[in-house]
Amino acid sequence: MSRPRVLYTDPPWLVGDGRPDPALATVERDVLGPDVELVFGPHDGTKYLTTDAQMLERAAGIDVLVVYRTQVTEELLDAAGKGLRVVVRQGVGVDNLNAALLTERGLPAYNVPDYCVDEVSTHTAALALALERQVVPQHRTLVGGTFDIYAGGTPHRTNRRTLGIVGFGRIGRAVARRLGAFYSRVLVYDPYVGRDLAEGYGALAVDTLEELLAQSDLVTLHCPLTPETESLIDAAALRHMKPGAYLVNAARGKLVDPQGLYRALDGGWIAGAGLDVFSPENPHQDPRWHPVLAHPSVVVTSHRAFLSEEAEASSRRRVAELVRAALEGRTHGLVGRVTPPDSGR
Ligand code: NAI
Repeated sequence: MSRPRVLYTDPPWLVGDGRPDPALATVERDVLGPDVELVFGPHDGTKYLTTDAQMLERAAGIDVLVVYRTQVTEELLDAAGKGLRVVVRQGVGVDNLNAALLTERGLPAYNVPDYCVDEVSTHTAALALALERQVVPQHRTLVGGTFDIYAGGTPHRTNRRTLGIVGFGRIGRAVARRLGAFYSRVLVYDPYVGRDLAEGYGALAVDTLEELLAQSDLVTLHCPLTPETESLIDAAALRHMKPGAYLVNAARGKLVDPQGLYRALDGGWIAGAGLDVFSPENPHQDPRWHPVLAHPSVVVTSHRAFLSEEAEASSRRRVAELVRAALEGRTHGLVGRVTPPDSGR
């Protein structure tokens, strides 16, 4: 009998010295042992070729598909063939899993829903507090040779300000506890959770997004990317925000319309933005993001809110354990089942 094949399409942890190095798959080998064949997606020395024909070739005959930022498509599933048993997303967000397609094909899919709550809530707080205290303009001015306490503007006392959280799941709740400590009031907008949950976290639920936008001094996004939330924060939404308010997005790039955001920054509708995520992943690849990146009131990071040594080690081990369980047919009750339960929204 041939060994089961597992394709990791685009694992970031496999890239050492610019190229994927199979010797770095130590955790995966440890969990899966020598009897499982590990296959990795093609890479051109700068990036994984996630949509290339070579990816389809490597998918042929696999038993398990593990994706990081690769989009699951009909083509990829067709290339994998009938032996494909399970799809695993190395991460929390499932927008690239194509849950509707997987459900249609009866393919179970899993994510790692809770490995980086600490990291994302800390990173959100870092972006938010950098904005509140104007750390980036201060840094730029001082290393540029000028000592000026007013560079970047005069901050406001956060203890008189209101924090607004959109999406009150695992990360939104951790943000309420951590970042909420700096603010006098925490508002929550999440149409899928009850008011009592917010109150249990010292926050107040509001009924509409507009209400939250109109009352918050810093708005932070923690909802998933779905057809309903795509461009949730567009020019019209930004018009509802307070002129001195900040926007933070460490959820998904497509939640925010880049052109609307630039108009809001340039027109002074809002005071600044902290962004960890963009669409496309690298904002330099889309000219609509260029003026946002160049704006002095913006602080950005490269979709790495989830990252820490501990989180990476944990997600790798948990993915490998999911793969092993799937290969052994032990999937009943595993944490992280995405299809069919979450596919509807
Ligand atoms: P979760 O599933 O625990 O919570 C998401 C919450 O959003 C749920 O309570 C849901 O009811 C709510 N929601 C859904 N639609 C909404 C809408 N239209 N308006 C307001 N709320 C809505 O997910 P978790 O773990 O809190 O993660 C949230 C998102 O953060 C993920 O979907 C992922 O896209 C993103 N993420 C980003 C990371 C990064 O490195 N930047 C790392 C991990 C997650």
